[in-house]
Amino acid sequence: MFDCLSFADVHVHLREPGFTAKETILTGTRAAARGGYTIVCPMPNLNPVPDSLETLALEQAAIDRDAVVRVLPYCSITKERKGLELVDFAALKAHCCAFSDDGSGVQSESVMLEAMRIAAREGVIIAAHCEDNSLPGTDPRSEWGQIERDLKLCEATGCHYHVCHISTKESVQLIRAAKARGVNVTCETAPHYLTLCSDDVLDDGRFRMNPPLRSAADREALIEALADGTIDVIATDHAPHTAEEKGRGFARSAMGIVGMETAFPVLYTRLVRSGRISLERLLEAMSTAPRRIFGLPSTPDDRVFIDLDNPFTIDSTTFASMGHSTPFHGWKVYGKIVKTVLDGTVVYE
Ligand code: DOR
Ligand code: ZN
Ligand code: ZN
Repeated sequence: MFDCLSFADVHVHLREPGFTAKETILTGTRAAARGGYTIVCPMPNLNPVPDSLETLALEQAAIDRDAVVRVLPYCSITKERKGLELVDFAALKAHCCAFSDDGSGVQSESVMLEAMRIAAREGVIIAAHCEDNSLPGTDPRSEWGQIERDLKLCEATGCHYHVCHISTKESVQLIRAAKARGVNVTCETAPHYLTLCSDDVLDDGRFRMNPPLRSAADREALIEALADGTIDVIATDHAPHTAEEKGRGFARSAMGIVGMETAFPVLYTRLVRSGRISLERLLEAMSTAPRRIFGLPSTPDDRVFIDLDNPFTIDSTTFASMGHSTPFHGWKVYGKIVKTVLDGTVVYE
């Protein structure tokens, strides 16, 4: 049996408070443990949005009550994630992992510039969902155009800018060039952008997420960027919805797929066993890099035990998550998570 430092997912949606018909802190952290994760960072598209000490305390109370793994929440960048008025970064920074308006891009350049100025001063991370609402989300420019804008702001302010779920080859090129000139930028992509492309999309809500699956050339550029270190982190963007919300066909289903219970086996099978990246590189992107970049707790007593040798078939009906919509249902894969240990205590077996 193979064992290593457990995984850390810096981009999940646990839906509590506000959307507990989709997922809860309890079910979402059970899904994390089942996927080999002992640290998750939930995004703030909640109700209420964690944009103040009072609203963040509601989310933290649910975490304290129910979480079975470590949970370090995000606060929003702007009040109610409306993109207009900034939150109090100095007051919130001790209580969250970073700041994000995930679910939407910050449309106003002047708001993002001011956010980055304050983030630089306070030493906090701005984690950006990049999407220009004046363009269709299916246009790759909707993503990379906003990254291009933000990289200039990041360079001018010196803030730590982390780009969420990159999906296009242009995003890769922009970030690779920015890193080469010393810009303080890091980024993540998700397992589905590394293993699927638009040719795979069926008329089924299981293939509906934002950003969408892009071209085969985009997927190849992302794999190369993971291999060469341009992409620092693999995060799942675990985004559960109800069966009804995901059962309306591709065009009408809610955007988002679950990811924590399939990430390692899918990536191990498609990228490592196929020889595209090493196991060490995959573990770095799923375990050590997210901890290092986000300053998350790191102890050798957080572990995952994995069966690398026996194939199994992904069955989304067995998930601990309340969300069951995944394009990976039915895939034959290797890398079953057998046991997850949090600070020396078994949290999944
Ligand atoms: O697919 C997505 N789902 N993309 C997002 O930006 C938000 C997320 C969600 O919250 O469901
Ligand atoms: Zn997002
Ligand atoms: Zn997200």
